[in-house]
Amino acid sequence: MAEARKQITVKGICKSFQNQEQSLQVLQDVTLDVNENEFLVILGPGQCGKTVLLNILAGLESADSGTVEFANGTPKYGEIGFVFQRYALFPWKTVLQNVEMHHKFQRVPKKERREQAMHFIRLVGLDGFENAYPAQLSGGMKQRVGIARAYATRSNIILMDEPFGALDAQTRYQMQDEILKIRSAEKTTVIFVTNNIEEAVTLGDRILLMSNKPSSIVREYVPELPRPRQNTDRAFMDLRNVIAQDMDLAL
Ligand SMILES: Nc1ncnc2c1ncn2[C@@H]1O[C@H](COP(=O)(O)OP(=O)(O)OP(=O)(O)O)[C@@H](O)[C@H]1O
Ligand SMILES: [Mg+2]
Repeated sequence: MAEARKQITVKGICKSFQNQEQSLQVLQDVTLDVNENEFLVILGPGQCGKTVLLNILAGLESADSGTVEFANGTPKYGEIGFVFQRYALFPWKTVLQNVEMHHKFQRVPKKERREQAMHFIRLVGLDGFENAYPAQLSGGMKQRVGIARAYATRSNIILMDEPFGALDAQTRYQMQDEILKIRSAEKTTVIFVTNNIEEAVTLGDRILLMSNKPSSIVREYVPELPRPRQNTDRAFMDLRNVIAQDMDLAL
């Protein structure tokens, strides 16, 4: 197989926060590579700094030390698609207006940005809901809007911060299937953060395990499992158990 092309190189990221008198070390020497077009899962326990790390990758927050290098040049503000942990939709805007937001800021002509937004609204299965407001949607539908909005940036890197964390189990499984379908239709690099081992094994081309604070990347797994993956398969369960054990040790 051809050597994968590196798209992002992250070296030695450290980040701490000053809370009143105390300093809280969150990230300590986080080092990782992201390959072009891979679905990379970052798996870590609650509060270990997953969101902080994604914010640093997106340029929304700065690191104390360390470097983030992009093979195709550092994206400008807003040029990386970001699906937020909480839906972060504008409640006074419709589904369509939320999805076309980025292109509106970019002053893309109305007809063109509408067409693009509708393409992604259809892709996430929200055809017919383009004029609905977020308050009229279920949690799963809101997160579909978040996904459509991230893809509509036309970025070749999409960051997803526990996008299904707030969903019930049934909807979560359904959304995992959907995200894989969307991903095969739209070639992009996805960095997907979760605290759920099963979700990581279901989705990841590669999985990086983060330790507890002060956090770093402690393990890497490359699941040799055919897709679509079944959580009842022997090999799936074996990998899940290995990761669960490693996670216990890493905490
Ligand atoms: N701006 C900030 N100021 C102070 N502390 C912060 C700030 N942002 C994050 N933290 C702290 O950094 C730690 C990591 O936060 P982060 O939100 O990245 O965790 P997480 O892994 O995303 O957690 P979760 O799984 O709950 O989403 C937490 O202890 C949090 O309190
Ligand atoms: Mg988080």
